Amino acid sequence: MTVFFTKTQKPEIKSFVMGFWFLGTILVFWLCFLRCCNSELIRALPGQPSNVSFQQHSGYIVTNKEHGRSLFYYFAQADSLNHSSLPLTLWLNGGPGCSSVGFGAFMENGPFQVGENGELVKNQHSWNLESNMLYVESPIGVGFSYSETDEDYINWNDTNTASDNLVFLTKWLEEFPMYKDSQFFLIGESYAGHYIPQLAELILEYNKSPNVTQINLKAIAIGNPLLDIDISVLAGEYLWSHGAISDKTLMLEKTVCNDSKYLREYVHSGWSQGCNDVFNRVANEVSLDVAYDDLLLPKCLSTPSSQQFKPRGLHAKAHSSIDRIIGDPCLQSRIFTYLNRRDVQKALYANTTDLPGHWDFCLGPLVYQEENLEINIIPLISDLINAGLPIWLYSGDQDSKIPLTQTRIIVNNIAKGIKLTTLTKYRTWYSKNQVGGWSQSFGGLKDGKNVTYLTYATVRGAAHEVPFTSPSQALTLFHSFLNGSPLPRPKS
Ligand SMILES: *[C@@H]1O[C@H](CO)[C@@H](O)[C@H](O)[C@H]1NC(C)=O
Ligand SMILES: *[C@@H]1O[C@H](CO)[C@@H](O)[C@H](O)[C@H]1NC(C)=O
Ligand SMILES: *[C@@H]1O[C@H](CO)[C@@H](O)[C@H](O)[C@H]1NC(C)=O
Ligand SMILES: *[C@@H]1O[C@H](CO)[C@@H](O)[C@H](O)[C@H]1NC(C)=O
Ligand SMILES: *[C@@H]1O[C@H](CO)[C@@H](O)[C@H](O)[C@H]1NC(C)=O
Ligand SMILES: *[C@@H]1O[C@H](CO)[C@@H](O)[C@H](O)[C@H]1NC(C)=O
Ligand SMILES: *[C@@H]1O[C@H](CO)[C@@H](O)[C@H](O)[C@H]1NC(C)=O
Repeated sequence: MTVFFTKTQKPEIKSFVMGFWFLGTILVFWLCFLRCCNSELIRALPGQPSNVSFQQHSGYIVTNKEHGRSLFYYFAQADSLNHSSLPLTLWLNGGPGCSSVGFGAFMENGPFQVGENGELVKNQHSWNLESNMLYVESPIGVGFSYSETDEDYINWNDTNTASDNLVFLTKWLEEFPMYKDSQFFLIGESYAGHYIPQLAELILEYNKSPNVTQINLKAIAIGNPLLDIDISVLAGEYLWSHGAISDKTLMLEKTVCNDSKYLREYVHSGWSQGCNDVFNRVANEVSLDVAYDDLLLPKCLSTPSSQQFKPRGLHAKAHSSIDRIIGDPCLQSRIFTYLNRRDVQKALYANTTDLPGHWDFCLGPLVYQEENLEINIIPLISDLINAGLPIWLYSGDQDSKIPLTQTRIIVNNIAKGIKLTTLTKYRTWYSKNQVGGWSQSFGGLKDGKNVTYLTYATVRGAAHEVPFTSPSQALTLFHSFLNGSPLPRPKS
């Protein structure tokens, strides 16, 4: 899933894919004469509803001409008569190597989701109700994004991702100059805990250079973020308290091998026997039928999901008033089918160079420098706050990949480290008259006034991919984030 790391994923899969890729890149070289690679207005996505009133654009932005690097994006204009006065938000999924179009746009917070028969269904809680939304498949090798230079795929890292993302952004703004002055927000998930702060840092630097139109970066947010592998990924206590692992296994995690050690061993390509044994136990106990990124998510069975997940009987009415309380576990496979359709790719101006292989959520030809998982992002977050940039960190509370408890520890450490004070004490926040989660905000004095710099929020019942399972709460959170306002309290 949209994750920094999948515990069942073995590195061999990557080299297997690489084989195909090398053959394919030769093909791409030949087809490069057919250069095209421009953004286009989407006339209509196959199966979209007939009364869509906002524009959609998609296509490629060349980030490096010499290497032939192009990043693919999908842009949904705000669904509002007043769209040009609404902000611009760039969304990034993590991985490293997962698609912001597949996850972000089509599964989480974009305007459409793929229905049972391949038709597009309007997402009633799409984030383009609040903002113009820009989804980028980043870096190269993810989704439809590519490079014509083989070497780019082998030693890619966070530094390369951030600088290509900055080039992407500045060039995209050249193509869409009406958004140059817009309030700009960056938001992402999981491994985007690396991407977002690193891009923000480059933007702040860029804004200092002479003769550039300043990018009006207002705030950043990251959901279930990977920030520090010594803290973020420790899931033993979380899984144990949710009944998903045994007392014995928790004890082994504490004494033999915890998630941080396991990840570090993976990065340095060699699991010890001890770590292997412990995490085989964890996998067996959690079971393949439960997703690490959402302990509540049912399995996708073969029956049409609309039947399987339609609330029935006595409680049907109550359910229908709470929108959707669980994600649709079959959605991902419908998105996969949809984005691999020729007509869909044509409509999106994607895959214009006959890319080898197929489109996928994560597994691509890219070999990322795994050591980058070990970079501690906390100092960078602190620097960004010190530079005056407000930051939101939120947690879907059913995720065991980056458990809420770990992000909370990090938030408290940051607040303490740079001496922020609590401005809003730990308390519930509300969405549609229900508790949406818990939240606390921290800040400091600026020009004699209290300003919020750091907001922590949990999202009750939500997965690693918060807007996927909890669209209504996610939209409420997004609204508060954009407005720089505290999360709502109950209406009295
Ligand atoms: C679009 O049409 C559908 C079906 O007729 C309707 O339910 C929906 O409210 C319409 N949406 C807009 C934005 O007009
Ligand atoms: C559009 O937004 C601007 C700025 O927020 C506001 O001043 C204006 O009244 C809005 N216009 C409409 C038609 O809502
Ligand atoms: C990424 O690789 C470049 C060399 O290609 C190096 O200069 C840079 O320090 C690396 N960045 C990270 C975060 O490893
Ligand atoms: C900035 O732009 C102006 C006008 O385009 C030019 O005269 C000037 O030399 C530029 N300054 C720098 C530092 O690039
Ligand atoms: C995780 O394991 C490492 C290596 O054994 C250890 O240094 C670290 O303290 C452990 N973390 C926690 C929170 O127990
Ligand atoms: C690109 O299109 C070709 C057909 O022209 C198809 O064979 C290939 O699978 C597509 N690549 C991707 C990444 O979808
Ligand atoms: C700022 O917030 C702190 C903590 O809530 C409070 O003690 C202080 O009075 C506030 N200062 C101003 C100027 O509002």
